[in-house]
Amino acid sequence: MFTVLVANIKGGCGKTTVATHLAAAFAAAGHAAYLADADRQRSSLGWAARRPAGRPPVRALDWTREVGAPPPGIGRLVIDAPAALKGRQIEALVGMADVVVVPVLPGAFDEQATRRFFERLEPLKAVAKGRTPVVVVGNRVRVGTRASGRLGQFVAALGHPVAGSLRDSQFYGDAAAGGLSLFDLPGRRALAVRADWEPVLALVEAAASAPPAPPRATTAASAKPLVWRASDDGGSSGG
Ligand SMILES: Nc1ncnc2c1ncn2[C@@H]1O[C@H](COP(=O)(O)OP(=O)(O)OP(=O)(O)O)[C@@H](O)[C@H]1O
Ligand SMILES: [Mg+2]
Repeated sequence: MFTVLVANIKGGCGKTTVATHLAAAFAAAGHAAYLADADRQRSSLGWAARRPAGRPPVRALDWTREVGAPPPGIGRLVIDAPAALKGRQIEALVGMADVVVVPVLPGAFDEQATRRFFERLEPLKAVAKGRTPVVVVGNRVRVGTRASGRLGQFVAALGHPVAGSLRDSQFYGDAAAGGLSLFDLPGRRALAVRADWEPVLALVEAAASAPPAPPRATTAASAKPLVWRASDDGGSSGG
C-alpha cells in the first residue's frame, strides 16, 4: 500500500482539501483508493459519504479514534491528519507514510506554524535520511499578490521539493460540498484549475515509483496502537 500523509499543525491550511483531491486523483487513475480520516472533525469522512455513486470509488477509513493499519493489498492510501498533532503522533503517522504532503497558506501565522511543524518533522529518521520525502504545496494562492510572493520565498527556503501552488478557487468549496474533486468536475474552467495539481501529482508519483525502502524498524511509538485522547482535540481550528 503506497501511503501519502497530508499534514501540518496549522489548522485550515487545506489538509482535507489536498487529501480528498489526492484520493480522488488516485481513484480516477484506476488505483484502489483509500482515504483515512484521523481528524475528529470527520471532514474527509463526510466528504466520502457525500461522494455520488458512479464516481471513481474512494473507500473511507475512520481513524478518528484510533489510527488503524493500512489496508492489505496494492493500492493508494491517503491519510488526512488533524492539525493538533503531538510529537509521538507525528512520528507514528510519518512512520506509515511513503511521502508527506504539507499544504501551506500564505500569511505570517501560517508560516510560523509550518516552521514549527518542520522542526518536528525533520529530525525524524525517515525524513532526515530522505527515505520519506516531504512535498510542500502552497495553497489558496492569488497570483500577483504580495502574500503569494512571500509564500513562494518561504516554501523555497524550507529546502524540500515544492509542488507549485494551488490557486484560491471557488471550485474547491463546490467540490467539497458535493463529495467531489477537481478531478470529477467537467468544463474548461475546472480543467484550468486542475492543472495546478500536475506538479503535486508528479512529485507523489516520483515517490511511488522510487525503489521500495527496506522494512521499517518498529519504534516504540509505532508499536503501540495510537489512540487519540480527548485532550488531543484542541487547536484544530484557526483556518
Ligand atoms: N485552494 C483553495 N481555494 C479555495 N478554498 C480552499 C482552497 N483550499 C481549501 N479551501 C477551503 O478552505 C477551508 C479549509 O480547508 P480544509 O478544510 O481543507 O483545511 P484543513 O487544513 O483540513 O482544516 P482543519 O485543520 O480544520 O482540518 C475549506 O472551506 C476549503 O474548502
Ligand atoms: Mg481537515
